[in-house]
Amino acid sequence: MLFPKDFLWGTAVSAHQTEGNNTNSDWWEWEQSKDYSTGKNKITGKEMKWPVEPSDPACDSYNRYEEDFDLCKKLNNNAVRISIEWARLEPKKGEFSDEAFAHYKKVLESAKARELKTFVTLHHFTNPIWFAKLGGWENSKSSEYFSVYALECVKRLGDLMDVVMTINEPLVLANQAYFKGEWCPAKKNLFLAIKVAINLVKAHRKGFLAIKNLSPKTPVGIVHNYVYYEVKSSKLFFWDAVFAKLLDFINNQILLIAVEKHTDFLGINYYFTGRIKSFKSKNPNDWISDLNWWIYPLGLKELLLRLKKYNFPIYITENGLADENDKHREKFIKEMVKSCEDAINEGVDLRGYFYWSLLDNYEWHHGFWPKFGLVEIDRGNNLQRNPRKSFEYYAQVSKSN
Ligand code: BGC
Repeated sequence: MLFPKDFLWGTAVSAHQTEGNNTNSDWWEWEQSKDYSTGKNKITGKEMKWPVEPSDPACDSYNRYEEDFDLCKKLNNNAVRISIEWARLEPKKGEFSDEAFAHYKKVLESAKARELKTFVTLHHFTNPIWFAKLGGWENSKSSEYFSVYALECVKRLGDLMDVVMTINEPLVLANQAYFKGEWCPAKKNLFLAIKVAINLVKAHRKGFLAIKNLSPKTPVGIVHNYVYYEVKSSKLFFWDAVFAKLLDFINNQILLIAVEKHTDFLGINYYFTGRIKSFKSKNPNDWISDLNWWIYPLGLKELLLRLKKYNFPIYITENGLADENDKHREKFIKEMVKSCEDAINEGVDLRGYFYWSLLDNYEWHHGFWPKFGLVEIDRGNNLQRNPRKSFEYYAQVSKSN
């Protein structure tokens, strides 16, 4: 395998999942509202299934970012994807924190000093408490609030951000937090979920325009969790194919159409293929991760080919698996990367691949047990970073391009 000369190899993390003590965010407040000995809300006494544990210091990357970027360097990477935290940067509505901006300036400078291209996400699932109190993404003004924040980020940190991603996985956030009720604010209402998804897309578009107005050269895009749907063998092949198309339209195409005129590239997170049989997603279990997610590298190639028609540069902004014992990770990377190469050979403008994740981190409502990291975090030993065997493999991939 050989990739184009300037292909970007990196890893991805997000602020809340790695930094620790994100005390001014809605997620932190939600995690702290649970009494973990009884499983109930401390104030209302209501049963709280999720989260299973709080994020606490997470990986302490807020303080240990240099060590983390050293690991990226050891991986021979030439890019890194991180997120910056709205709850820290705008702790009160309209009041920005000089201290937090100074912190992220140091973080980004430290990535640049290691010759890592910086891919910066402005919103990765968490919100400032003030924003949540105003109704969060249900509020019709939410997109305005976000674009004010996005603009401030580019004003103050723009020259250190090579690529800006406004919002990570708007549909996942709407689904998890407002339909399934597994993430804060833990609501279960389809109409709210749709409203939230619309507001998130609006926020992206407003943010995009605001940033481009100020800094036309900065590449700005959105990150989408693309689910690839396919039908293999089925008695109802025709109808299942129609159903798969419909699911693809709802989960992928609507969002792509909605952002088409407001994006410079597509950021794609690939974790899921849904194999449709008799109007249901019935995935084989021949190869699965610790979270029981089916691993299907060919799906990545197929979805990349489908995206070709949009004519945008594409980055795989996340792709990874929970694999505590590192049994599958090397093969996983090898086959996913092979799919990327095949897609490039068939004319897809794919420019980079970011493995999720550099470190084991706070996997949202599941807590810390799913281990996505190329690097293990020893939670019993001062959060020591221990590279897994697959780390060496990815370092070779990256080095040899
Ligand atoms: C999210 C990450 C998450 C990963 C694994 C992605 O949907 O962006 O925050 O940790 O999936 O579940």
